[in-house]
This record gives sequence, structure tokens and C-alpha cells, in this order.
Amino acid sequence: MEGKMLAAYFDVPGGPENLYIKEVAKPVPKEGEVLVKVQASALNRADLLQRRGKYSPPPGASEIVGLEAAGTVVGFGPGADGFWKVGDPVMALLPGGGNAQYVSVPLGQLMPIPSGMKTTEAAAIPEAWLTAFQLLHLVGKVQKGETVLIHAGASGVGTAAIQLCRLAGAVPIVTAGSSEKLQITKKLGAAAGFNYKEEDFGTKCLEFTNNVGVDVILDCIGATHWQKNLQCLNTDGRWVVYGLMGSGEINGDLLSKLLWKRGSILGSLLRSRTSKYKAELVKAFTEKALPYFSPGGPIQLQPIVDSVFPLDKIPDAHQRMEDNKNTGKIVLQIPQ
Ligand SMILES: NC(=O)c1ccc[n+]([C@@H]2O[C@H](COP(=O)([O-])OP(=O)(O)OC[C@H]3O[C@@H](n4cnc5c(N)ncnc54)[C@H](OP(=O)(O)O)[C@@H]3O)[C@@H](O)[C@H]2O)c1
Repeated sequence: MEGKMLAAYFDVPGGPENLYIKEVAKPVPKEGEVLVKVQASALNRADLLQRRGKYSPPPGASEIVGLEAAGTVVGFGPGADGFWKVGDPVMALLPGGGNAQYVSVPLGQLMPIPSGMKTTEAAAIPEAWLTAFQLLHLVGKVQKGETVLIHAGASGVGTAAIQLCRLAGAVPIVTAGSSEKLQITKKLGAAAGFNYKEEDFGTKCLEFTNNVGVDVILDCIGATHWQKNLQCLNTDGRWVVYGLMGSGEINGDLLSKLLWKRGSILGSLLRSRTSKYKAELVKAFTEKALPYFSPGGPIQLQPIVDSVFPLDKIPDAHQRMEDNKNTGKIVLQIPQ
């Protein structure tokens, strides 16, 4: 196995059953990269799209799925030593390559694992929490006291966004597809929650805000929710589109409704951002949010782990996400 490692792989795009464990070349860290021995990784919706051949990794990124990992530092590329020591526990934001025994990570995309936290919890942090942090602060520019409507409130990103809203002094309200999921979002800090399958969330959000409307919408659904989103958006509201699970094809008078509200639509993708942007995001998150994952503070942030699958059960893990069964993150345990 010298120079080799195990990784999740698929030869042709398709369903979860196409995934299998393959022996592949171990990555060699390039300039400014750190080699990490991965103990746990986690799933993201982007993995499902990639497996179906609908989301290619950005240029230069690994073909192996996996946008995040937690493990220990085992080596350094040129110019990357001096910041971390061999054996340091780290978690990483990745453009790909996380569902494997080793991954090479640009220095700026590594964070320390909060002390006492298991790697199966730490692996649930990077992609979902950095996305939620970025959407709220860098894109949506949420202010203290504002109301934020978070769709898919029980998703990996949603469960992080609820908690980060509370940390920012904003008021999170959510939608989700079942009462069980809504209950969990309430425990995490959601001030209200609506089952979008049974309730008119547009009207409910207006009622909740005394007809003022919500200041920010974190929207990973798109077309199926657009009318209700505009119905409940406050004047000068920011509608942040970061996923299209309910399609991107809209027929209707979206622009005039948006104009009358003086609303903004802001699109955001994290994976395709530059290394410099990601490093700045990681730095801001490390300073402003990461300390709250350690116990004892006035506000406690916690990664929500739905389930842990061994790497060779990755088809089952993908199936669970595809069936919308998870609340929080689906984690993969990597063989050592
Ligand atoms: N732009 C970015 O940078 C970025 C980064 C990370 C993730 N994302 C996006 O963020 C979203 C959440 O990702 P995740 O990994 O956290 O997801 P996740 O944990 O798998 O949760 C997704 C949940 O969304 C709900 N959902 C699925 N299809 C839906 C539909 N058509 N209408 C309404 N709700 C639907 C389901 O919950 P219910 O039971 O409540 O319906 C599902 O469990 C995805 O769209 C993903 O692509 C974007």
C-alpha cells in the first residue's frame, strides 16, 4: 500500500450503487499544501450531483468525492511547514477528495478541531458551517435583530445556519418537510418553523413578522418556493440563492415583484471560489465562530450528526441523503 490509499470511487455516473472502494494513488502535497490522514469525512448534496455526472469538480481538484474531512496532519508540501505539526488534529474545507484515506489541503483551508471534539463530529463542520457563515455574513450581511428565513432548516447547512443566526443576534425561522425535522430545528434555536408541504410558509412568515416580512432568505430550493419567498420578503430584503433542489426554472413576474420590494437576489457557490477567498472565509470563521464549539461559553454551537457510516457503506449513505431522510450531517468513518 506504499503510495496507495483507499477512496470512494465511481467509474460511470449514476445511482448510489455505482460507488465502490478503490485503491488509488495517495496524493502528494503540492506547494502550500498539507497532507492529512483522514479519519472522518461527510456527505454533501454536491456529492450526489457529482455522482450523477451533474457537478464536475473545479479545475485542478481531485476527482474523488468529498468536500470536507477531519483527521491528523502527516506531511507538508514545499512552503507549508511551520504552521502545523505532524499529529495535529485538523478539519478541512476541500474542493474534492475527502472520501479517502489521505487528502492534500491548501494551508488556508485547514482549521483546528475544537478540543475534546470527536473527528466524526468535526467532519460535519467545514462545508456546512462555512457555507452557512458565508451566506449569512459575507453574502446576506445579516444584522442583529433581523429575521432570517432558512429553507431546508434540518439540512446540514440549515442546522448550522440556525445556530449561527442566534450567535449573530438574528432571529431564525425555518421550513422543513416533517414535524420531526421542525422539532429539532426548534431545539437548535428556530423561533418558528413551517412544514412547506402542508402550510403556506409565505403567509405564516408574514404573520410571524407582524406583516413586516423577513430580512434575509437562505434559499437552496429555488423555483417551487419563489412566489412565497417574494410574498414574505421585507422591503430591501436579501434573497440568497445557493441551491436549486426545487428547480431553477421560473415562469412568472418575478422581477416586478422583486422591484416593488426593492429586493436583491444574491447567488452564491462556495466550491468554485478562489483559494484566497476560501482562506479568508476560514480565517473569519475560525476567529468568530469556532471558539463557540468548545464547551463552557455563553452560546454553544454544535455540529448535528445524523448518522455515521463506514466508508464501504457509502452507497447506503448516499441513498439516505437522496431519500431526504437525514437531519444534519451524514458522516463517513474512514478505515485506518
Ligand atoms: N452554494 C453553496 O456554496 C452550497 C454549499 C453547500 C450546500 N449547498 C446547497 O445547500 C443545500 C443543502 O445542502 P445539505 O448538504 O445541507 O443538504 P441535506 O443535509 O441533504 O438536506 C437537504 C434537505 O432539503 C430538503 N429538500 C430536498 N429537496 C427539496 C425540495 N425539492 N423542496 C424542498 N425541500 C427539499 C430535504 O428536507 P425536507 O425533509 O425538509 O424536505 C432534504 O433532507 C443543497 O441545495 C446544497 O446543494 C450549497
